[in-house]
Amino acid sequence: MKKIVIEGGAKLQGSINISGSKNSSLPILAATLLIDEKIILNNVPNVKDILTMVSLLETLGKKIKIKNNTLEITSTNKPSYFAQYELVKTMRAGILVIGPLLAKFNMAKVSLPGGCAIGARPVDIHLDFLSKIGYENKVVKGYVVSKKKFSKNKISFFFKKISVGATETAILSSCLSSKEVKLINIAIEPEVIDLINFLNRSGTNIKFIAKRSLIIKGVKNLRGLKYQIMPDRIEAGTYMVASAITNSPLILKNISVVHLKNIINIFKKIGLNIKILSDRSLKVLPGRLKSIRIKTVPYPGFPTDMQAQLMSLLIFAKGISEIKEDIFENRFLHVLELQRMGAKIEIKNNKAKIIGIDYLSGAQVMATDLRASVCLVLAGLVAHGKTEINRIYHLERGYENLVKKLKNCGAKIKIINVR
Ligand code: EPZ
Repeated sequence: MKKIVIEGGAKLQGSINISGSKNSSLPILAATLLIDEKIILNNVPNVKDILTMVSLLETLGKKIKIKNNTLEITSTNKPSYFAQYELVKTMRAGILVIGPLLAKFNMAKVSLPGGCAIGARPVDIHLDFLSKIGYENKVVKGYVVSKKKFSKNKISFFFKKISVGATETAILSSCLSSKEVKLINIAIEPEVIDLINFLNRSGTNIKFIAKRSLIIKGVKNLRGLKYQIMPDRIEAGTYMVASAITNSPLILKNISVVHLKNIINIFKKIGLNIKILSDRSLKVLPGRLKSIRIKTVPYPGFPTDMQAQLMSLLIFAKGISEIKEDIFENRFLHVLELQRMGAKIEIKNNKAKIIGIDYLSGAQVMATDLRASVCLVLAGLVAHGKTEINRIYHLERGYENLVKKLKNCGAKIKIINVR
């Protein structure tokens, strides 16, 4: 097992290069199942979830060469429509292969991803859509077994809840078909838009008809292509907090400022001075932190994936702040660990009340999910003394070279192996 050890109090300086987006790479990798010709993906982050998705695609008939952050994807002559539990259980985005498999084979057997620390994370909306477009979906021994029952050429579907994954499943299962599908009340996260851009570049016909509605005119086949994955906006937001929490100016490079508008506005509200240097870079200049009341909502609102990181920062904001987690039912697991470091946080249902204090004390803490882990790293950067973070495999799922990037900016942080 490995753990991260941080000596708190070091100031940061310099700049950090932001990697490609994990949550854009995963649906785009699933989309490669729709395309037989060669695909080159650039700016793919080298993180565990990507390697798991690559292994899953290789069991489904893809051949994938990885060179640094570039993936070359070609097709073997051994396709399969069976996505096994061992690979899907650790990476929930495995469910995203069901749409392409059904589009290609009219059948699929995909392991249910199972819940995770932040909530049950059901896939009922994914399956509602697949039933609507003509597939019969049964859950048998932990697998979704789907097969074509009927065909309809014109379909309209309203999402009862805004869901990133279900929107991606609807798009992935409709673009290689003879259908015309209208989707209403879709998620419009930049990662969903990146998937749409990728598919349209490959030959699909997906057009927005309103802010949260689009029409997909299915096509017969898709062309191979070269594509650059968008920058990871959540990684960028995370390092903006690292700059603010250590009261050090930091420059972020290789970002997409337009995707960070909502995060930048909130950080300005709590007192940070954010200088836009170009549409691909910004500088965070710390300021006196002010408390805030905020809730997590679908894009373009404040993202749930930044909730834990913001909480670690609000610990030092004067006054009382409040965060309402409106997306997931159990995304406050990091609070217990922050309290071990001396944070004054009270939880009532899906609301966290954070009372501003002057300092945290380093402690032994435990990571529980990807974003909770990074919030503990952020707290450790500024806590008095040493913080040790266990179960850092959560971090390795979604942050490329996190320790190296922080160390290069002056943080006293290292990974050690423990028995
Ligand atoms: C994606 O998860 C992201 N993961 C999550 O990031 C992110 O937190 C989430 O979107 C919200 O932005 C990837 O893109 C790989 P949802 P997803 O479907 O698609 C409920 C991270 O840290 N729901 O938008 O699973 C669901 O339970 C991860 O990088 C249903 O009820 O999220 C949740 O309450 C964590 N039925 C809400 O909708 C369904 O069929 C939003 O979930 C699907 C979802």
